[in-house]
Amino acid sequence: MSKKIQIAVVGSGYVGLVAAVCFAEMGHDVICVDNDERKVAALQGGDTLIHETFLPELLNRYRNAKVRFMTDLAEATRECEAIFIAVGTPQSETGDADLSYVEAVACEIARSLTSYKVIVEKSTVPVYTNEWIRRAIERNGVAREMFDVVSNPEFLREGTAVSDFLHPDRIVVGADSERAAAVLAEIYAPLTGGEYYTRPDHITGICNQNEPPVLLNTSTKSAEIIKHASNAFLAMKISFINAVSNLCEATDANVEQVARGMGLDSRIGPKFLRPGIGYGGSCFPKDVAAFRSVAEQMGIDFGLLTEVEKINVQQKKRFLSKVRSALWTLRGKRIAVLGLAFKGETDDIRESPAIDLVGMLLGEGCSVVAYDPAAMKRTEEKLPASSQLRYATDAYTAAHDADALLILTDWDEFATLDLDRLYTTLRYPIVLDGRNLYDPQVMLRHGFTYVSVGRPSTFPVREYAGSSVL
Ligand code: UGA
Repeated sequence: MSKKIQIAVVGSGYVGLVAAVCFAEMGHDVICVDNDERKVAALQGGDTLIHETFLPELLNRYRNAKVRFMTDLAEATRECEAIFIAVGTPQSETGDADLSYVEAVACEIARSLTSYKVIVEKSTVPVYTNEWIRRAIERNGVAREMFDVVSNPEFLREGTAVSDFLHPDRIVVGADSERAAAVLAEIYAPLTGGEYYTRPDHITGICNQNEPPVLLNTSTKSAEIIKHASNAFLAMKISFINAVSNLCEATDANVEQVARGMGLDSRIGPKFLRPGIGYGGSCFPKDVAAFRSVAEQMGIDFGLLTEVEKINVQQKKRFLSKVRSALWTLRGKRIAVLGLAFKGETDDIRESPAIDLVGMLLGEGCSVVAYDPAAMKRTEEKLPASSQLRYATDAYTAAHDADALLILTDWDEFATLDLDRLYTTLRYPIVLDGRNLYDPQVMLRHGFTYVSVGRPSTFPVREYAGSSVL
């Protein structure tokens, strides 16, 4: 039977909130601290704040019992053995991560520290942050033997955050002290020992009792670099396949076939080889920039990452050119947009390539009618409805009388549209698919002009007065 640990999680954003409910699901007692009183009140009242599978169920199960929400970090520090810092590390103007929230939390913890604590950095941070946290705490008069700082990066994805947390590919614990490493090992024991997966009500996923996740012990600096390097590598994989997709377009090859052929090589692997309109979200763009900046500060030229970013920016512009080629001119055209979130199954629009493209279309003088199953409220706060931009209640309303339909987010529901209905709803049956959700031959059979990424476009042959016109 694993030991129950008192855990504080500071920050109730994606990582903090998911970690808090998952630690409770693993059997621990958790206090989730946030300095935003409205957020705390909302969470206490049962609001999940973010759109995430399994989160409502887990919050319902543990809210105000095994997970308590509060604003008082001093109280949480006194009560808990391990304090996880999961606050934001936004991008500063120079591309570096802004660590002021992490520093503020470290100082506040220091002021309330009366017995030994393990302070765990879970936010994505540059190498050396653990050392800075340690120094900040010591500067506040805390003796070295009263605490340890550990790096335990999180690799969850939005949309599948809960199952990613409970079924991780690996758990990385960067600790320079055995005492602290032992506390982290105890916290994750329900997963690494397989006990959690034997529970009848456990959330299922890739791990099980016989194949529990691996816990990798490293130095704090290695753990910090593992997180940045992993995100940068995944972003590089996406930019790589996007660059390959451009080559496929130039040569009439099919990038889906190329990606499959590459991915079957076990050294490459099939994941993160989906071409599209570029990566977005709150992590990859920020982390690639931060990692490049860290390297620069250490005197390392990591120009590869500059190329990764360049390809990502170009990919959006390239998609806009495709819209232009399909419609000839853009001013005054009515465009239906499906998808605003940075990827499917989330309501997050941060750094969303879909939002960037909507901005570009509006800039070109198009009128846009957009639909997204979850992200419209957030988008409307950023881009209010106007005579040029409207929000529709479903995909077909968005498509009504449009000159073309653009698919910009890979929501499952956009992959199963009623194509006959769509055909009669659009003014012109033109679909530009930035996520390759459809088979071009199927679209052709349904009479669409279909343009996607890295695959030959298909155009129905129409008969006009005996001559065929492409
Ligand atoms: C990413 C990482 O995948 C997580 O491991 C990490 O923990 C997280 O960042 C973080 O650092 O917090 P996330 O931002 O939720 O997770 O989203 P991803 O599923 O990785 O997708 C990122 C972007 O890449 C999306 O815009 C997605 O559409 C795009 N993408 C992804 C592609 O264009 N092609 C692909 O093959 C995969």
